[in-house]
Amino acid sequence: ARLAILLSGRGSNMLALLEATKTGVLQGLAEVVVVFSNKPDAPGLTFAAEQGCPVASLPSQGRKREIFDAEAAALLQQYQPDLVVLAGYMRILSPAFIQPFAGRIINIHPADTHQHQGLHAYEWAFDNQLLETKITVHLVDEGLDTGPILAQQTVDLRGADTLAEVERRGLAVEHELYAEALRGLIMNYKL
Ligand code: GRF
Repeated sequence: ARLAILLSGRGSNMLALLEATKTGVLQGLAEVVVVFSNKPDAPGLTFAAEQGCPVASLPSQGRKREIFDAEAAALLQQYQPDLVVLAGYMRILSPAFIQPFAGRIINIHPADTHQHQGLHAYEWAFDNQLLETKITVHLVDEGLDTGPILAQQTVDLRGADTLAEVERRGLAVEHELYAEALRGLIMNYKL
């Protein structure tokens, strides 16, 4: 399957997925055909380029959402992705973006999307002193973290007494779960 990975920041999930395509559970099943960012200076974009991955960016700042989304979708379509994989892509997607890739956009959210949507999910788990939280991989629809759930995994937070520790444990689960969930999708739908 051809994966387009979209990010706005540091790109740790992107790197984990890239690694999985090279030597992990996605080996022989998926290739990253482009890493795209709405932030031309996103660290993740630099990391992807250093790994020899094709990269592309289009600044979203100051642009009208529908116009930016239509241009981003047109750019991505040139790479003919089977799946559009959001990995810290900090934008709510308008129909202009979703329609060309309907049912093929995947996101990872660092909480149970039934309990928490939007930003700061690890802070939320930490502030509420949760003993566990869930990482969710889901299909993207027009809402904020509302699409059908594809995979979830629990993160044990007992004894995690700093926000940094909550994030460390959560990200370790994210990095494994995302690749596993994509593997399941690719195999089920023969992508
Ligand atoms: C992750 O926690 C992901 O679940 C959320 O945004 C963060 C991105 O981190 N959607 P990274 O850029 O992959 O390191």
